[in-house]
Amino acid sequence: MLKVNDIVTYRAQSYANSETVGTVEDYALFVPQLIVGELARVKITYVKKKVAYGVPEEILERSSARVLPPCAHFGKCGGCTLAHLNYAQQLVFKRNKVENNLRKLGKLCVDVLPCVPSPLQLGYRNKLSLPVRGRRGAVVVGMFERNSHNLVQTKSCALGGEWASALTSTFVRYCNDNGIEPYNERTFGGCVRHLVARYVDGQLLVTVVSNGEFTADLRPFEQELGKHFGRFGLFVNVNTARNNVILGKTTKHVCGLEYIEGEHLGVKFRLRPDSFFQVNDGVKDLIYAKVKELLDLSETDVLVDCFSGVGVLTNVLASDRFDTYAIEIEPSAVKDADDMAKLNNTPRLTNICGDVTEELPKIVAANKGKRFTVVVDPPRKGLNEKICNTLKQAAPSNIVYVSCDSATLARDLSMLSDMYAVTYSEPYDMFPQTDQVETVVRLTRRQLD
Ligand SMILES: C[S@@+](CC[C@H](N)C(=O)[O-])C[C@H]1O[C@@H](n2cnc3c(N)ncnc32)[C@H](O)[C@@H]1O
Repeated sequence: MLKVNDIVTYRAQSYANSETVGTVEDYALFVPQLIVGELARVKITYVKKKVAYGVPEEILERSSARVLPPCAHFGKCGGCTLAHLNYAQQLVFKRNKVENNLRKLGKLCVDVLPCVPSPLQLGYRNKLSLPVRGRRGAVVVGMFERNSHNLVQTKSCALGGEWASALTSTFVRYCNDNGIEPYNERTFGGCVRHLVARYVDGQLLVTVVSNGEFTADLRPFEQELGKHFGRFGLFVNVNTARNNVILGKTTKHVCGLEYIEGEHLGVKFRLRPDSFFQVNDGVKDLIYAKVKELLDLSETDVLVDCFSGVGVLTNVLASDRFDTYAIEIEPSAVKDADDMAKLNNTPRLTNICGDVTEELPKIVAANKGKRFTVVVDPPRKGLNEKICNTLKQAAPSNIVYVSCDSATLARDLSMLSDMYAVTYSEPYDMFPQTDQVETVVRLTRRQLD
């Protein structure tokens, strides 16, 4: 019988997300930071019925795909779960993950293309969101350990790159030099909860998330930011909620830029601190170009972009040849989407603020008899039965689904499979070094007999 603290010899046989799985004494043992095929001495950390978890103590047989992770915090911080695997094998892992989920969870046999690599394997993130806590009387920032709220103090993050390191150290110095109190999750006391930032096209927006009114003088921080960043804006967000949600409802502009302005794929955009924007600019552009290529927009009267965010993809796809509807639930994103439509003179576009589950049926009913084209780009929880049924009712000849979770993608494709066949499926490496993968799928309406 396995017990906690036992040391066992373990062969990694397959993957379950980024962890490996193997069998030891009839137990399914899950171990992170290993590569399938490797043999290791593993310390058991948890046992329940016939399932156990462990951590590697020593690798006895190393895979040729093993590399030195580009970060000293690998294994402790919950971020880069695949950084020990070479990049070519990370791409293979992600393609297989999508294919396995479609087969096992969706019961779909789909020809999944190789995973498209990210132009940058490190330093690709345009966004950071770091918890701020206290340690031995000082303010520290970092990342939480996987599935926990233990903070791993990090001076820099390999995924954020130089801008993120410069910002983090500037902020920590400001807090410690000016007696700013960090948030305490146990007592719900203290002041600064999170440091949130976005950096796109040389412009930085920094948001200090405060547990109540932020009364300290921010000018020293502003001055230091000015030494590192030519163009920046500073904001304070107030969040007094006793939960894990990062941003509260109110964000106040303190100084500098109010938004980031840019132009990607010929679309001008403005981003505020809380706007949703894909985290990897290079892969975002590849995905949006692919979505456009996969849709037969010459064959449509009505395009509906569901879960449209601030609307960059909507504007990439919209045209004066057909009506476009974009549905987004966040009022501030819809306001930005309206501004973006004006900025780009996008014709025949209606931005709708609401829930796709409620709004899509209304659009379909109001445009009865017209030919539809639909794009869905939902959050991780994916679609639901009502949305799938409305899609079937609208019966577009093609649907393009952009997914950030291949498990919910598999479930949704299965719900649509009586009427739609998957005719294109390509993973994109939006998040190198992690086990997360974005997938672009085209669904084509089956011919009726
Ligand atoms: C993955 S993002 C996609 C955004 C956009 N397509 C892009 O690439 O920037 C998902 C978006 O769906 C929105 N959202 C989440 N649930 C929604 C719902 N039930 N109805 C409408 N929008 C929703 C979120 O606010 C978020 O902006």
